[in-house]
Amino acid sequence: MTASPIRSRRQLPLDELAEALEAGWSFPASMYTEPDIFALELGAVFEPRWQYLGPLEHVAAPGSRLVGEVAGRPVVAVRGDDGELRGFLNVCRHRAYRVVSGQGSGRYLKCGYHGWAYRLDGTLASAPSAPDCIGDDLSLLPVGVDTFCEGVFAILDPEAPSLTTAHPRLRDVAEQAGMSLDAGAYRHVRRITTHQKANWKLWYDNAVECYHCAHIHGESFNRAFAVASGTASANAVAIDELYLNRYAGRRSGGDEFQATFCTALQLYPGCQIIQQDDLLIMAQARPVAANRTVFVADYFAEEGSDPASVERWIKLWARTYDEDAAALEIQHRNLAASTVDRMRYVEGPEAPVSIINGLTLDAYRQASVPDGDR
Ligand code: FES
Ligand SMILES: [Fe+2]
Repeated sequence: MTASPIRSRRQLPLDELAEALEAGWSFPASMYTEPDIFALELGAVFEPRWQYLGPLEHVAAPGSRLVGEVAGRPVVAVRGDDGELRGFLNVCRHRAYRVVSGQGSGRYLKCGYHGWAYRLDGTLASAPSAPDCIGDDLSLLPVGVDTFCEGVFAILDPEAPSLTTAHPRLRDVAEQAGMSLDAGAYRHVRRITTHQKANWKLWYDNAVECYHCAHIHGESFNRAFAVASGTASANAVAIDELYLNRYAGRRSGGDEFQATFCTALQLYPGCQIIQQDDLLIMAQARPVAANRTVFVADYFAEEGSDPASVERWIKLWARTYDEDAAALEIQHRNLAASTVDRMRYVEGPEAPVSIINGLTLDAYRQASVPDGDR
């Protein structure tokens, strides 16, 4: 038994949406705020794709685990006694409580509600006063897990092709951009979670264009990196569902932020892998509701790097992300208040937004094919 997908039969005017995107407009404002569109997107965009869950080093030892969320479902990744990394829905088969919370380790995954305990392979080991439940098919429901760089990724379908099968150019694109992908080169320093009162598509628009950087990030990102409007996407690479951008460091004399480079790789939907000097960020935007997105950012420092320098960089990035979140909330409120029908994108510097919106439109198209025609 596996997790069953959310289904939505909402019909979208796909050709009309495509024409508007082509002409430089966004999706209609209502598509950023309506719950049934959000439900469709969970099913069409997030369910069938890999998403970043957390640091690989947190599941290095047998019995260690990390929890997260994929397409609105709680998920746990756990390292078995046999060394195998497995993933499960973090939902108890008794009465659907959360099995474990937070990072941790132990020989069992024990539900805190009535004490059912699962082995590390997900099978039910014990259920207080309910011996008849043992042996029934009440194992934890499996999900897919995989690893890349310093991270664990998850997908709802346990039979899904691997992460690098789903993104066949992932390793090439990252390596050609000079990214360091060997697990163990960095250590996890901190997780910073930002709760955004905004639709995930607004997060995405903001995350891939740097047209805004010189303005709202004047005292943060813009201090360290060259982000002149109109030129920010000149180094970009868009292949399949990957999008990569590179920024040069400003290296301005006397400033404490002496960056040499920044490479930002986006894995659709919502995963960012950023390498910048001795810092690595692995992050995931998690859609929570039409008007809620949680942005989880794990910061890693290169082995041997100066902790004070790493702290300065984390502070700069956290401020940058906070500035983004503040902008998104205002945009979302204004879209929800029906102030404008659509947003307008600028050709050139906002081209990456059109690429991402195109991927979302493709996902809508795939989801709108009737089952019998697949
Ligand atoms: S819900 Fe988990 S033991 Fe009851
Ligand atoms: Fe930003």
